Amino acid sequence: MRVAVTGGAGYIGSVVVEVLLRERHDVLVLDNLCKGHRDAVLESAGFTQIDLRDGTAVARALREFDCEAVIHMAADSLVGESVIDPAKYYGNNMTAGLALLDAMREAGVTRLVFSSTAAVYGEPAKQPIEEDDPTQPTNPYGETKLAFERALRWYASAYGLSSISLRYFNAAGATARNGERHLPETHLIPLVLDVAAGRALSVSVFGMDYPTRDGTCVRDYIHVEDLACAHVLSLAAAATAPGICRAYNLGCGGDGYSVREVIDAAATITARPIPVAVGPRRPGDPAVLVASSDRISRDLGWRPHHQRLDAIIASAWQWMSRAH
Ligand SMILES: NC(=O)c1ccc[n+]([C@@H]2O[C@H](COP(=O)([O-])OP(=O)(O)OC[C@H]3O[C@@H](n4cnc5c(N)ncnc54)[C@H](O)[C@@H]3O)[C@@H](O)[C@H]2O)c1
Repeated sequence: MRVAVTGGAGYIGSVVVEVLLRERHDVLVLDNLCKGHRDAVLESAGFTQIDLRDGTAVARALREFDCEAVIHMAADSLVGESVIDPAKYYGNNMTAGLALLDAMREAGVTRLVFSSTAAVYGEPAKQPIEEDDPTQPTNPYGETKLAFERALRWYASAYGLSSISLRYFNAAGATARNGERHLPETHLIPLVLDVAAGRALSVSVFGMDYPTRDGTCVRDYIHVEDLACAHVLSLAAAATAPGICRAYNLGCGGDGYSVREVIDAAATITARPIPVAVGPRRPGDPAVLVASSDRISRDLGWRPHHQRLDAIIASAWQWMSRAH
């Protein structure tokens, strides 16, 4: 298939590109490099530096590539920043997303896989979270992702656009070629590994008094390659009929991992001390956030292959040790 990947120079997008090429798809990356890295994109993929808000240029790029499907990864995705600057999130996650949909219509592209987020659920009443649970985002990041998902429903019935939205929490780990290079970095595993590598003095832990097995928050971590495979698998599902519009959760398949467990596993793998600075709970941080992937497993046969925490952290550490 001829697949365009928006945000394909970013962390997860660059691994989606690796998996697409491995499975012999033709790939065009569309990325404005506001956060991405040109050298993360394999040479055998096409690359166009473009902002999705430039609908005319995006439609032209899709047409010239003879594009059959789009995997939409480009977004702003910092929860805290979204609260301080919601306009940025409505602008990039909604307006730019809608410009992409219009460009796809203009270019006759009718299949989309959308990288959404489990932040659409807000503070869920039960765990693990299932797709039919209430969606009540508590920040503009989750809100704008949900608004885009809702637009997809109307575009499906009116224009026959087929889409699969994937909702997940924390991407983690690395392939031999690509790993996490966010600036600023807000994700726990690279922050912990920065301490192990001597680039930071300690890792902050917000709250040790949660009703969990060790008092720290429990979260889902999915290996980036498992996520990428889910995006590629969803391409085929979106191609089965016009106007399909589904959302699937992606979770690591167990009870999740606590912050303490992540830090301890990282200390073992790196054989370095990882000092901790304990602070108070952050407002709006639920004790446990774990997504159920039963539905995508049943419908599409997706299963994570790298769900062991030590394997995820080891892959990130190996990548980080090579990259620095
Ligand atoms: N990283 C996670 O843990 C996680 C969890 C859930 C969902 N997601 C979603 O997955 C996607 C990718 O996340 P990531 O961690 O790889 O982020 P990232 O910041 O590494 O990648 C995003 C890419 O999109 C590009 N981009 C942003 N706005 C653009 C625009 N207007 N036009 C063109 N390119 C643009 C950036 O340059 C960057 O390369 C995002 O949509 C994010 O919301 C990520």
